Amino acid sequence: MKPGDKLMRHYLQFKDFRAEEYAYLFDRARIIKSRFKNYERYQPLTDRTLVMIFEKASTRTRVSFEAGMYQMGGSVVNLTTGDSQLGRAEPAEDSARVISRMCDIVMIRTYAQSMIERFAAHSRVPVINGLTNEYHPCQILADLFTYIEHRGPRGGGIDAVKCLEGKVVAWVGDGNNMANTWLQAAEILGFTVHVSTPGGYEVDAKVAGISDHGCYKVFDHPRDACAGAHLVTTDVWTSMGYEAENEERAKAFVDWCVDEEMMAVAQPDALFMHCLPAHRGEEVTAEVIDGPQSVVWDEAENRLHVQKALMEYLLLGRIGGA
Ligand code: CP
Ligand code: NVA
Repeated sequence: MKPGDKLMRHYLQFKDFRAEEYAYLFDRARIIKSRFKNYERYQPLTDRTLVMIFEKASTRTRVSFEAGMYQMGGSVVNLTTGDSQLGRAEPAEDSARVISRMCDIVMIRTYAQSMIERFAAHSRVPVINGLTNEYHPCQILADLFTYIEHRGPRGGGIDAVKCLEGKVVAWVGDGNNMANTWLQAAEILGFTVHVSTPGGYEVDAKVAGISDHGCYKVFDHPRDACAGAHLVTTDVWTSMGYEAENEERAKAFVDWCVDEEMMAVAQPDALFMHCLPAHRGEEVTAEVIDGPQSVVWDEAENRLHVQKALMEYLLLGRIGGA
């Protein structure tokens, strides 16, 4: 492939795929997960190499991509800022030209979305966003798959994504990369996000990259955002890269802690999600994250299965008949 080749796809934002492609991916993730649980070998990516670039810390993203690629028969190279020329100011464009001649797919976790966009524009192979300051599409892919597993139809297919239509997701906390990605997902899949952030930390529709402002509603009080929600979700008060604001944020966010009172006003069968890592006693109480409505461990595990489906799709296209 050459950079800019129309046949090659990247996954840089949630809105890079259509609803019907999500239906396909969730189906594949379901099949891939069930084979994995049955110890069935499935190695369609033999001899393929994934390069992972981490400019920020990670546990879930690192393990899920690395284990996923090995399980599918491929291999992995892991680069960090500290041990590569990326940390010594080699331009993203040059890094992309070189790295993409030596591997089949790249996953990047970095600061500015513009870095990943520049990398992708000069890459011969698909590039996946493993988190930027602006977006975290792989996480929302896992979150939606988890919702469908718990509350969707048994059969999957287009009905699985249709089950999201009309639902309410409550976002409590920072207007950050996760919040932006939830808004993109709402616009594509037809649900609504009830957003409550402290003043000064609102979501910005322009940064979120949405055109339909009807896909979200803003609430001053987090409990009002949770009222009637099918899913309540939150994230750390301070995202990676914003540590200098820690103290200021700790004061501003003190009322944005998902607790049992907030869960009580949501739908009786509402789920709680958190992308993790979590800080009990800050953005969520221990009672909620360790309670019966929480599906955070399934959510974390599903990173593995959805990303295997994503890499399969980007490298091999649709698998026969699915
Ligand atoms: N949720 C998530 O992306 O976790 P890591 O930062 O551990 O990769
Ligand atoms: N918003 C968090 C998500 C971590 C997975 C961050 O960017 O640090």
